[in-house]
Amino acid sequence: MEHLKIETTLEVYNTISELSQDIQNLMSEAIEARNNAYAPYSNFNVGAAILLDNNKVVIGNNQENAAYPSGLCAERTAIYYAGAKYPKAKILKMALTASSQNQITDKPIPPCGACRQTIAEYEMKQEQPIEIYFMGAQGKVVKSNSLANLLPLLFESSVL
Ligand code: THU
Repeated sequence: MEHLKIETTLEVYNTISELSQDIQNLMSEAIEARNNAYAPYSNFNVGAAILLDNNKVVIGNNQENAAYPSGLCAERTAIYYAGAKYPKAKILKMALTASSQNQITDKPIPPCGACRQTIAEYEMKQEQPIEIYFMGAQGKVVKSNSLANLLPLLFESSVL
């Protein structure tokens, strides 16, 4: 038996203003998307903004449904739209923000497991890491240089 030790290093910024102007702009787009989320059941709004290598920004937000599992997270709404609209473009960066309508969300909210697996697919497809920035409604911002940092032991197509 041997131990497998998995380590991840993320960058944590105290406020969005510590990040570059292009990330602040991308996060502003994510915030606007978050404000337009359709989340009448959870009252938890999530917004995502994706910067592509063709300089386009694609946004997404969570879209809920009375049949709960039919809803979709913000990250997947955005990344599937990017894949549908710009299939050849590479994804450079993703900005994510989440806000509860019931309490102040002041800690960074990472993407859920299913969204991590989804983002991983695109990172492998484009053979280039995707920078991910995530925050709550205010406060600290976490930066991951690659999706792989957030999902060790991810499931990948080479095993199929
Ligand atoms: N949600 C997202 O949009 N992204 C995540 O990574 C986690 C959760 C949404 C799904 C649902 O509409 C609400 O947040 C509460 O789970």
